[in-house]
Amino acid sequence: MCGIIGYVGDSQAGPFLVKALKNLEYRGYDSAGIATLTGGKLCVGKDVGKLDHVRDKHHLDELPGQIGIGHVRWATHGDVTPANAHPHFDCKREIAVVHNGIIENYQELRSWLEANHLFVSQTDTEVIPHLIEEHMDAGCSLEEAVLKATRQLKGSYAILAVSVKEPDKIVASRRDSPLVVGVNAGKNYIASDALAFLEQTNRVAFVEDGETVVLTKDVVFLDSEGQRVQREFKEVDWKSDEATLQGYEFFMMKEIMEEPHAIRCATMQDKRLLLEMAIGILRSRQVVITACGTSRYAALVGRYLFSKLGGKFCDVIMASEFQYFSDSIDKNTLVIAVSQSGETADVIQGVKKARENGATIYSLVNTVGSSLSRMSDRVLYLNCGPEIGVAATKTFVSQLAIFYLLAFTMANKLDEGLQKLHDICPKIEKGFSKNSKKIRGLAQQTRERNDFYYIARGINFAIAAEGALKMKEISYVHAEGMPAGELKHGTLALVDEGTPVVVICPRDYTYDETIANAHETKARGAFVIGVSEEINPIFDDWIEIPQVEEIFQPMVTVVPLQLLAYYSAVVRDRDPDKPRNLAKSVTVK
Ligand code: AGP
Repeated sequence: MCGIIGYVGDSQAGPFLVKALKNLEYRGYDSAGIATLTGGKLCVGKDVGKLDHVRDKHHLDELPGQIGIGHVRWATHGDVTPANAHPHFDCKREIAVVHNGIIENYQELRSWLEANHLFVSQTDTEVIPHLIEEHMDAGCSLEEAVLKATRQLKGSYAILAVSVKEPDKIVASRRDSPLVVGVNAGKNYIASDALAFLEQTNRVAFVEDGETVVLTKDVVFLDSEGQRVQREFKEVDWKSDEATLQGYEFFMMKEIMEEPHAIRCATMQDKRLLLEMAIGILRSRQVVITACGTSRYAALVGRYLFSKLGGKFCDVIMASEFQYFSDSIDKNTLVIAVSQSGETADVIQGVKKARENGATIYSLVNTVGSSLSRMSDRVLYLNCGPEIGVAATKTFVSQLAIFYLLAFTMANKLDEGLQKLHDICPKIEKGFSKNSKKIRGLAQQTRERNDFYYIARGINFAIAAEGALKMKEISYVHAEGMPAGELKHGTLALVDEGTPVVVICPRDYTYDETIANAHETKARGAFVIGVSEEINPIFDDWIEIPQVEEIFQPMVTVVPLQLLAYYSAVVRDRDPDKPRNLAKSVTVK
């Protein structure tokens, strides 16, 4: 939620900041803005709308100066207005600040500051430059002022501050929101995500919670007391071209097409680590998996696999609710946190609490060096490269792949699991060519419908829920996914003439009962879309899936549902990569 970037170097900051913000746009696109420093003044361009629009309108590329900060916003406090766009300033417009996070005590601070400071926005952020101004007016340097100001803040923040009084530096600080520094021969970068500057450098250091960083032509890390700390820079092996469209119209489609490759990459794990973690899961008194959104649906499949293959029952708790169960989390608990970004605030909060209670933390994460990975005892990385589309697609199948690996290891059959996962990949590839045109037609046919229902049983129930989530988040269509047996307990009342009902019914032991539920909807006029290996007379339309073993069905049933959501968004003229009101990395609670 919100992306921030800072640059100090020897070339013009504007064009780089725009490019970097483009790579961060997945984090927010309500507004964008840049401030550069030159000739003792701030040069600023900011406005509502997507980055391209703001860049053209305010000529962001042309802003002079070799130092600057930038921001893309996902609004939390304050409407989407030009005044609320970042950067924000002090009264004299000498200090500029960009911020990712939420300042929980901003009202209190603002009431206090308002006696002497002029506020022009509704944001929580604006208290920060005014606090820095207070401290600088009292004689502090920029870094001293930032250190003092951040001690007054409650909540989460990653901030970058510049001041015309110290025109060669950016001061950054973070608590509970990510920040990473990149260095390359006297050019220094700092951002919410290394993706912002990967084209320039892959030598990075992650900023720890409570740290402040001073970027000039040098980089100095300070602890919360302002004492220097030594930090090592490491090379990350992400490639910048992974974050480009490479001929696709949207990242979501590119990322769906990458799924077979992503599964293969996810299987590249250290076998000893898998064994250690599988034993950890089997031996723990209680195992709780926590995650949000799509990651939680992967966890629901994982739970099924642990039970089916490992004989181990575990619970899945929505991360935003996890803290309310902390009374029963202790040193005998193993928590498995699943998050592609590794920055989701609800997950981080739950994991922090669980750690305090003595639990062991395993995590499944895509972003190397993310907050979650750094607070975990063991981490399995998805290895699928950056996912830019807000809708999780390739990370979902990668999460599934890792759950398969763990479950097969629990059953002492890792090699068999690896082989079976590899065998699935060509089947998914074949499905793309076979189904894409048909699914696009289906999206066109149902484009006037605004309620979709998805039903399935057993291991595919989570896929019904995931299909519905994909549909609603990118197409803005109301969609619900549920176990097929639940339909008659309420939701069936909403089904009438022409309501699309997607019935996920592979030919397994759930088939007859699921088809019976499909009949119940058909009797009320539903337009039944079957997702199965074989056609059934009850289907009004049919999406064929390949024949696979029951436990692997989620891998092949989810793909057509991702495509259906994608095409439904496209035929409705929605941008599937940047759905309204959402962002990729949900760093607020
Ligand atoms: C998925 O399409 C959504 N964008 C969302 O539900 C997402 O899965 C959720 O916010 C969790 O994100 P995470 O995996 O980065 O923690």
